Amino acid sequence: MFGDVRLRMFDDRDVDMLRELSTDPYVPTIGTLPSHASRDDALAYLQRQRQRLRTGAGYPFCVADRVTDEALGTAGLNFTAPASGRASAGYSVAPRHRGRGVAAQALVALTRFAWTVPGLARVELYIEPWNVASVRTAERAGYEREGLLRSHQEIGGRRVDMLLYAAIRPSNVSGNAGA
Ligand SMILES: CC(C)(COP(=O)(O)OP(=O)(O)OC[C@H]1O[C@@H](n2cnc3c(N)ncnc32)[C@H](O)[C@@H]1OP(=O)(O)O)[C@@H](O)C(=O)NCCC(=O)NCCS
Repeated sequence: MFGDVRLRMFDDRDVDMLRELSTDPYVPTIGTLPSHASRDDALAYLQRQRQRLRTGAGYPFCVADRVTDEALGTAGLNFTAPASGRASAGYSVAPRHRGRGVAAQALVALTRFAWTVPGLARVELYIEPWNVASVRTAERAGYEREGLLRSHQEIGGRRVDMLLYAAIRPSNVSGNAGA
C-alpha cells in the first residue's frame, strides 16, 4: 500500500481493466497480454499470472485504488535467476487512469514488498529511452540510473537499447519469511 494505491492479487473482475490496457500499442509488445484482448484473452492472461505465482516465476499484482478497489493497472516482480538475489520489475497503468502518478506509487509499494522477499538484494528496471513516463516513474520511486544497455533485447520485432535503473535493499531492512 502506498499513497492512493494498493497492490493485490488479480481477480476475474479485473478483465475490463486488462482489456483497456491491451488497447495501448506498447503493452502487448512487452508482455503476454495480446493486443485488443477479448474477455477470454484477458482471462487466459490472468491464468498465466496465477501460474507464475505458483511456480515462483514472479509476483504479479493488480494495482488497485486504495479506497474503491477499482483495478488501475499491473505491477510485478519477475525472477529469471532466483539464486542471483535480483529481480526485475514491470508496471503498466490502463490509459484512462494515467496522468496522476499511479505507476510511481505502485512501484514504491512493489519495491517495499520486494524487500520482504528473503535474499532479494536488487530490483532492476529496463526502460526504453523514449519512454519518458516510465523514466519519471522510476526516478520518482527512488530508482537510480545505472547505464544504457545497447541493443539489449528485441521488442516489437527490432533490437532496442534499454536504460537500466535499479534499487538496492536498504541496509536497515532485512528480508523475512513472511513474504
Ligand atoms: C509508464 C506508465 C506506467 C506511467 O503511467 P502513469 O503513472 O499514469 O504516469 P503519468 O502519466 O502520471 O506520468 C509520470 C510522469 O511522466 C511524465 N510524462 C508522462 N508522459 C510524458 C511525455 N510523453 N513526455 C514527458 N513527460 C511525460 C508526467 O508528466 C509525470 O511526470 P512527473 O513525475 O514529473 O509528474 C504508463 O504510461 C504505461 O502504462 N505505459 C505503457 C506500459 C509501459 O511503458 N510500462 C513501463 C515499461 S518499462
